[in-house]
Amino acid sequence: MSKPELKHFLQFKDFSREEFDYLFERTRAIKAQFKSYQRYWPLSDRTLVMIFEKASTRTRLSFEAGIQQLGGAAIYLNTRDSQLGRGEPVEDAAQVISRMSDVVMIRTFEQDIVERFAANSRVPVINGLTNEYHPCQIMADIYTYIEQRGSIQGKTVAWIGDSNNVCNTWLQAAEVLDFHVRVSTPPGYEVEIERAGLLGTGHFEQFADPMAAAQGADIVTTDVWTSMGFEAENEERLRDFADWQVDAEMMRVARPQAIFLHCLPAHRGEEVSAEVIDGAQSLVWDEAENRLHVQKALMEYLVLGRVNL
Ligand code: CP
Ligand code: NVA
Repeated sequence: MSKPELKHFLQFKDFSREEFDYLFERTRAIKAQFKSYQRYWPLSDRTLVMIFEKASTRTRLSFEAGIQQLGGAAIYLNTRDSQLGRGEPVEDAAQVISRMSDVVMIRTFEQDIVERFAANSRVPVINGLTNEYHPCQIMADIYTYIEQRGSIQGKTVAWIGDSNNVCNTWLQAAEVLDFHVRVSTPPGYEVEIERAGLLGTGHFEQFADPMAAAQGADIVTTDVWTSMGFEAENEERLRDFADWQVDAEMMRVARPQAIFLHCLPAHRGEEVSAEVIDGAQSLVWDEAENRLHVQKALMEYLVLGRVNL
């Protein structure tokens, strides 16, 4: 069997708009097959290794269920019970792990770790969240919008809260897929353009006032005020972010058809009110489910290349 060109998905901008169009088309087909209980095992005898250096519910579940549904198998490694937690160089781990598997997913701290792993890997590497980015999440978020409302091109996303890994990935996606992001963070937490890995194509604007950012938005979205790895700042962040909650009043200034998204896990009463996340505009459960479907399309693409069905 011929092998496709080795590609990794370490940040959103690793793929072109045309590749995302292909992946979203495959997602739709794979999801429809799954919903109608049709067996689809293109990755039989293939192995996914999942490396977790941080906690996870959705990412582990969606990758593990996803590879099984494609006919393959998953192996879970974490820092605590592997040599990764005992100082084995990431380059050596990559050499070994990639000789025994077909695709690797990593959730870790600095982006540099996934970059170094990928540079020493014989197989595709997927970023399952780093301090800087969460590309699989934004694939699912955008697929959810497309599924429910149509093309995202030219649309407006309001990001309210911390300019974290999920925010950075929205900003990269806006440049790749040509939409706009209006970001509102408390002072001192603004977007860092270099850390976000932006080209500077003018696809985002920063707002001091969160209500101004939400005005006329097609998607209103947020995330926890304190991300994994930043727990020491929790008390300070609770104070600093108190006025950056997505509530019903904020949803009212967005477009009437606007949707609310949150990568989850959420803290009701902090970054989002219960009324919004549990309300009619919230698509968070579809968003979470779509992690499964987009990542199946992603693994199929990375392992097999484009399929002609
Ligand atoms: N959204 C997300 O990545 O969730 P987990 O941390 O549960 O994987
Ligand atoms: N920004 C959050 C996302 C969790 C899925 C974190 O990094 O903890």
